[in-house]
Amino acid sequence: SSNAMWGGRFAAGPDAIMEAINASISFDKRLYAQDIRGSRAHAAMLAATGILSNKDAEAIGEGLLTVLSEIEAGDFPFSTALEDIHMNVEARLKEIIGEPAGRLHTARSRNDQVATDFRLWVRDQADAAIESLTALMKVLVAQAEKGAGWVMPGFTHLQTAQPVTFGHHMMAYVEMFARDRSRFADARKRMNECPLGAAALAGTGFAIDRHMTAEALGFDRPAANSLDAVSDRDFALEFLSASAICAVHLSRMAEELVIWSSAQFRFVSMSDKWSTGSSIMPQKRNPDAAELIRAKIGRVLGAAVALFTVMKGLPLAYSKDMQEDKEQVFDAADTLMLALAAMTGMIADLTVNTEKLEAAAANGFSTATDLADWLVREAGLPFRDAHHVTGTLVALAEKKGCDLPDLSLTEMQTVHPALNQSVYAVLGVHNSVASRQSYGGTAPDQVRAQVARWKGLLG
Ligand code: ARG
Repeated sequence: SSNAMWGGRFAAGPDAIMEAINASISFDKRLYAQDIRGSRAHAAMLAATGILSNKDAEAIGEGLLTVLSEIEAGDFPFSTALEDIHMNVEARLKEIIGEPAGRLHTARSRNDQVATDFRLWVRDQADAAIESLTALMKVLVAQAEKGAGWVMPGFTHLQTAQPVTFGHHMMAYVEMFARDRSRFADARKRMNECPLGAAALAGTGFAIDRHMTAEALGFDRPAANSLDAVSDRDFALEFLSASAICAVHLSRMAEELVIWSSAQFRFVSMSDKWSTGSSIMPQKRNPDAAELIRAKIGRVLGAAVALFTVMKGLPLAYSKDMQEDKEQVFDAADTLMLALAAMTGMIADLTVNTEKLEAAAANGFSTATDLADWLVREAGLPFRDAHHVTGTLVALAEKKGCDLPDLSLTEMQTVHPALNQSVYAVLGVHNSVASRQSYGGTAPDQVRAQVARWKGLLG
């Protein structure tokens, strides 16, 4: 038999495989709350504008609440033959309230309906991402406050570069996650226009009030162009783009945690709550949560690439291609929220091995730059010459198998006569970090200032 919603011109129903490829109810049932909210706003507006009687609008509004509670109770008979959440809800409404249900779709199409539902859903996820990022930033700031004075090696090329503070390293991630947060906030602002009332694509001949529905649904304004309103998925693309960048940040942090918790580094240990064992090697403590966070960027970026590919080259206005938007965004959002929560838990429970950090900070001639800077400041050498002299001292220490501070003054002076006793002070890792007082530098004072600033901002 043909479809009850659109089957008027059809003699036969769809092939079973057509039904399988066409139906979206298996996934878009997640939009039920947004769909019912949107329909209630639409019905109220139809009544306010006199398009629908108050009696019918009331029956629709009440009936939709019954549908909502049925879905929430888990006893709603979702039907694949009814394709999607929109028609499932409406069909059930008809069973509950009868004839007035058929009036709900006046001055509306599933095209503006789904665009509205999905925007509401993505908007909630942007808010959730902002909240989760704030929680993560708070635990990072707390670790930074504890570790503002803990010295550790800073790396470039994953080779020891210069000593930095642990707090400084944590605060670097705070900056990254702050940018992520502002990307979600920015996307949220732009997506907050209401497509409802664009109808199929051209608008409607009914004298609807789009400002009223926009306001009822918490949008800033109705979308200004009906063609754009039903064909736009920028909001989903922006959400996925912001999610992908955020997932990149999470994967970088996760990678550092994997490295830092290895036996070779032992900078940190993950709490039992965030580690797993091996079924064969009894000694193992594996950082699985960090590894999985590191990997999950694959799904999030995959979702972004998938939806960009769907949208590319689509003519205006609506095409069924766009039904492929939802699963990607659902999966990316679920993945991102889980990864953010796991990272927040891991960081909150992280134990830092400060002795290991400090010992490693002194390795690898990490204060060679301080020595070169000393030659510039105290002996007036051009930096390039100072760099060369210091390189010779490093080679000497390397040959002797010792660190720079272990060279005697006599040995140093064979390389450059201007070196004197006061150079030893700059070779210590604590002096090194304390000297990095430039704005945004690694000096504990600077880190504490950033911690204080962020504590103020995060509340
Ligand atoms: N399930 C559809 C989607 O997700 C709803 C819109 C259907 N519109 C249509 N003209 N068939 O995009």
